[in-house]
Amino acid sequence: MTTPQEHHEGLVELLQVAAIRNQSVGAAGHLATAVERLGQLTEPAPVRPATRSVVTEHLDRAVSLADAANAELAGAVFAARETLHWRVAYEGVEGDEAFTHFRKNYAFALLVAADPDAPAPFHHPELAMGFSLQAPNVHYGMHHHLAVEIYNIIGGTGEWKRNEGPWTPRPPGSVILHEAWDDHGMNTTDQPTLTWWTWVTDVTNSTPVMT
Ligand SMILES: [Fe+2]
Repeated sequence: MTTPQEHHEGLVELLQVAAIRNQSVGAAGHLATAVERLGQLTEPAPVRPATRSVVTEHLDRAVSLADAANAELAGAVFAARETLHWRVAYEGVEGDEAFTHFRKNYAFALLVAADPDAPAPFHHPELAMGFSLQAPNVHYGMHHHLAVEIYNIIGGTGEWKRNEGPWTPRPPGSVILHEAWDDHGMNTTDQPTLTWWTWVTDVTNSTPVMT
């Protein structure tokens, strides 16, 4: 039987491997920073698990859509799903019908948090890292934040937009860099999307804002 701590330590090891591999795809310097900081993590702390309906309904399919390079990581996320604290995004923020639909059909889980009180097994003052899951046919509208952010697609092909660029399909294996204050959004079509993402700057003073 694998303990939650073993699941979490295994995810860190797989993310180190993924970050090193993905440096050849994009965001090389930022991913190198992430790898360095993953080597400086605190000892794992217990996390109160929490789930969301999007996880119980769509994580298995997103995992099945991973490419070969991400298959082990995808399987590890699935195996660890009940040990993670899956959260709703934009807690307390009001919006229109589309925004409400998005919030019901999107969840994220922190593996590494900068805030020592955040529900994450690991903490680092200059790193945030976790997973996101977006159900099919969900529009995550344009938003921005100060922190530089790298998304790595594990499973599912959605359409992503950055600033004035077009909506662009991003298959598993893609690396997507958002510089400080870049407007960005993501739409799913008939597939859910599972990512791992990391913030490597301004980790403690960034809150995403819809634009
Ligand atoms: Fe973002």
